[in-house]
Amino acid sequence: MQKLAIQGGNRLNGEVRISGAKNAALPILCASLLSGDTLQLGNVPDMSDVATMCKLLQQMGVKIGKDGGQITLSAAHIDKLEAPYDMVKTMRAAILVLGPLVARFGEARVSLPGGCAIGSRPVDLHIKGLQAMGAEVHIEHGYIHAQAKRLKGARIFFDLVSVTGTENLMMAAALADGVTVLENAAREPEVVDLAHCLIAMGAKIEGVGSDTLTITGVDKLHGASHSVMPDRIESGTFLVAATAAGGNITLTDARADILENVLEKLHEAGATIKVSGSTINLQMSQRPKAVNVRTAPYPAFPTDMQAQFMALNCIAEGSAMVVETIFENRFMHVQELRRLGAQIDVEGNTAVIKGCAQLEGAAIMATDLRASASLVIAGLVAQGETIVDRIYHLDRGYEHIEAKLSALGAQIRRLK
Ligand code: UD1
Repeated sequence: MQKLAIQGGNRLNGEVRISGAKNAALPILCASLLSGDTLQLGNVPDMSDVATMCKLLQQMGVKIGKDGGQITLSAAHIDKLEAPYDMVKTMRAAILVLGPLVARFGEARVSLPGGCAIGSRPVDLHIKGLQAMGAEVHIEHGYIHAQAKRLKGARIFFDLVSVTGTENLMMAAALADGVTVLENAAREPEVVDLAHCLIAMGAKIEGVGSDTLTITGVDKLHGASHSVMPDRIESGTFLVAATAAGGNITLTDARADILENVLEKLHEAGATIKVSGSTINLQMSQRPKAVNVRTAPYPAFPTDMQAQFMALNCIAEGSAMVVETIFENRFMHVQELRRLGAQIDVEGNTAVIKGCAQLEGAAIMATDLRASASLVIAGLVAQGETIVDRIYHLDRGYEHIEAKLSALGAQIRRLK
């Protein structure tokens, strides 16, 4: 199993290009299933979740051409309407083929995702939504089997804000008969990016970016080209790393407008941030101040940045409270951070972190994608060597992270 070896203590300086967003690329790749014409995508990040999604689509019959970040998909002939367990268990986002398959082909068999490192994460809202649109859904042998001659428009209220739930039903509604209204829909920028791609394919969607989406189904969608938005979580991860380690970094091809909450917290921690067009510059020269964080759906503070801020608070001046309101078990990184000397108490969904002046390098283990990012940040500021094991989690959602950090001056290498 591959590991990262990090020698802590270096400041980060220089420029880093932000990649396309994983959480926008995955649903947009699935949108290719909605049309028999070609979908041309740009700025698709090179990471293992994207490779897994492409493999899944290819298994179904989608023809895929790849040239760097440019991916061309043609779903003219689909012969398998199934997402098998071995794929869904490694990447829950595979559930995103459900809506498009039922909408265009009238049937889908998608494995139930089961549990994952950050909680039970059910998909009941995806299923209820499809049922409301007239699909017959049965759970058999661990699979969701959904059928519908043609989905019908419906009014659907989400009890909980669900990002992939909103995306699945928005894609399904694009080809349904009549009008679908999604209420309490997710407003995450990645949902907006998917909506823009669908609109380019001929979908009729109103209310994009709000919590009420009105989708008027059309008979057919057509080909389009779309460039995937910049990854706000990758952006935030580099900015937290530089706030923790100190230095002066500039993100290029980034978007500050979708990072407001994160930038405000980094400013509170003591960083100086300047935004100009698609670049974000961050300078930090002192020890960070502790910052409280409470996760909630967009536009509030993202759960995908919680672990990285936990690492920052471990070495900050003062104490901070981190409250996780989205996932029930998203503190797996706490045990590992403690191995570096961090002082963290957890009660229920709240962690209280007492900042210490110095962490000490140790062997630690990645447990999920964003937890891995927090361990890398901790390793960058710890004294001595930190070895992060099981970094396949990190490779799922970060493009060339150690190369990018090395270019900024970090001492980090991959042990194969
Ligand atoms: C997406 C993101 C993930 C991010 C999360 C929250 C992708 C590929 N992944 O995950 O990185 O951490 O949003 O911003 O975009 N829930 C239910 N029933 C459902 C669906 C969700 O109870 O049918 C619950 C979940 O268990 C969780 C909450 O709703 O507690 C939000 O989950 P959701 O927004 O659906 O997360 P994902 O879309 O899986």
